[in-house]
Amino acid sequence: MAGMRRTLSIEQSTALSPLMVDTFARKGAGVGECAWWSPTSNSYVADATALGGAIGSLNEPLILLRWNGALVSAGGGKLEFREPGAATEGYPVAAYAPALRPEQLGDDAFRGDHGLRFAYLAGAMANGIASTRLVEEMARAGMLGFFGAAGLSLERVEAAIDQLSRADLRARYGFNLIHSPNEPELEAGVADLYLRRGIRLVEASAYLRLTLPVVRYRVTGIKRDAEGCVVAPNRIIAKVSRVEVATQFFSPPPAELLSELVRTREITPEQALMAASIPMAQDITAEADSGGHTDNRPLVTLLPSLLALRDRIQGKYSYEQPLRVGAAGGMSTPAALAGAYAMGAAYVLTGSVNQACVESGSSDTVRRLLAQAEQADIAMAPAADMFEIGVRVQVLKRGTMFPMRAARLYDLYRAHPGLESLPEADRAFVEKQLLRATFEEAWRGTREFFLRRDPGQVERAERDPKHRMALVFRSYLGLSSRWANDGVASRVMDYQVWCGPAMGAFNEWTRGTFLEKPENRRVAVVARNLIYGAAMQLRLQHLRAQGIHLPAGVAGAHPLEPDALREVFKP
Ligand SMILES: Cc1cc2nc3c(=O)[nH]c(=O)nc-3n(C[C@H](O)[C@H](O)[C@H](O)COP(=O)(O)O)c2cc1C
Repeated sequence: MAGMRRTLSIEQSTALSPLMVDTFARKGAGVGECAWWSPTSNSYVADATALGGAIGSLNEPLILLRWNGALVSAGGGKLEFREPGAATEGYPVAAYAPALRPEQLGDDAFRGDHGLRFAYLAGAMANGIASTRLVEEMARAGMLGFFGAAGLSLERVEAAIDQLSRADLRARYGFNLIHSPNEPELEAGVADLYLRRGIRLVEASAYLRLTLPVVRYRVTGIKRDAEGCVVAPNRIIAKVSRVEVATQFFSPPPAELLSELVRTREITPEQALMAASIPMAQDITAEADSGGHTDNRPLVTLLPSLLALRDRIQGKYSYEQPLRVGAAGGMSTPAALAGAYAMGAAYVLTGSVNQACVESGSSDTVRRLLAQAEQADIAMAPAADMFEIGVRVQVLKRGTMFPMRAARLYDLYRAHPGLESLPEADRAFVEKQLLRATFEEAWRGTREFFLRRDPGQVERAERDPKHRMALVFRSYLGLSSRWANDGVASRVMDYQVWCGPAMGAFNEWTRGTFLEKPENRRVAVVARNLIYGAAMQLRLQHLRAQGIHLPAGVAGAHPLEPDALREVFKP
């Protein structure tokens, strides 16, 4: 950045006319009424061409003066604050912004507790889309990622645990624990696997009510340390979009579930007492309109509600460790991150933009489709996991027909008692276009799948034709995301790609830059650019509050290339 500065000599800088100083002091331009800058032997003044660089030098405070009607930045020298109107020498400061490094954004206790350099997280993405590679890259960049365990077998999740525990990541990673109302044994199995393999941090998501497995995970191993403080080795960062769910996670584990764990001797009565003094989750991510499962809530309303809830619940329980709230949903531009941090988010969490990066477990075809998406190119479509009760997920619309096709399946499911009752035209459409198999063939494949995964479903389907229809349709929905991840060329029109409006906003911001190309999108490069840009935006906001409105493009408009980023992010 320093290289971009065009430095003027002290002699030139002291040539600022006393008359002009007087004029600006009387007008009270910016902080000019009470802040004064005087040159010293090590000072410089850089002209307007270097303004962007000066604002971007986030390690240094920014002092702006006016010189011949133009803004210039001053460095070194002496800055003094005096009573307005007090006699003084030097130059009135038009605006001042403190140093603001990306490391300072968010909550420092959050960063400290999780061993992070930056309060920036990558959320879990199912089926290993948030891959081990993605999680590793995040950890090495001083950030935190969650492996996308949802939808994977226990064996695949355990293989990811093996891989991540071998890498030296200083515990800067976690795994997803997703509520699975249709497969309670799987949820319990995943929680047990995490306990058995010593996974100390999970991102808990999709919960409406707390379940025994998530409570078991949280309270197993709870004890008092040498100072008598209660310590729970397993931590949860819960992702929620509703106050009712956040209330449960910010509260201590429910008494009836603790009693159940005591009854089954999984914890002692003393441990149950200790558990009553800690929250289920110290950290909650407020997830606004996002890719995948979403309530489509705006962050500007959700985040303040959850911050207020945090304060109420902290006041009620007086926890030793204060509660914290992070922000997710739409975090894909510097301005969005800056807004979230400015509103009080302890951290931000991204999703959609990471799927578009080379490290994600998705395919190049999907990355190309994502790179073309605009903000309106998304739609809500029926979810595979909670299809029968009408739950929907946010997906990509451009370049695939999945949202329309899946919606048609849901309508047919609602309208008919079973596959056999479908009108001929609908039957032909579903068999030929979607399943590419007869209903009988499709049921045979689906039956085999569920016999391995959850045999109870097969028993029920053999009694109930409507359930059989649900399972066949759900298997199409399940396969559609696998076809996308595997990049199956013959199935592009059926790709189910979870994606939120964040993707379009990111594409807009990066258009015409090196980050427009899918092959240049790397999670750490994207993350560093977002967080650096956010710090720039917050500096610009400091200036705006002092009446300085810089023209668009002076600072922070474009992402930095990897070499420039490395320079900015030198430890
Ligand atoms: C492809 C994809 C898959 C996702 N899968 C999961 C998941 O399995 N579990 C989960 O907790 N969140 C999942 N999410 C949500 C993300 O972790 C994150 O909370 C969300 O994407 C943030 O919003 P954004 O998409 O606007 O960035 C997924 C999101 C995407 C885009």
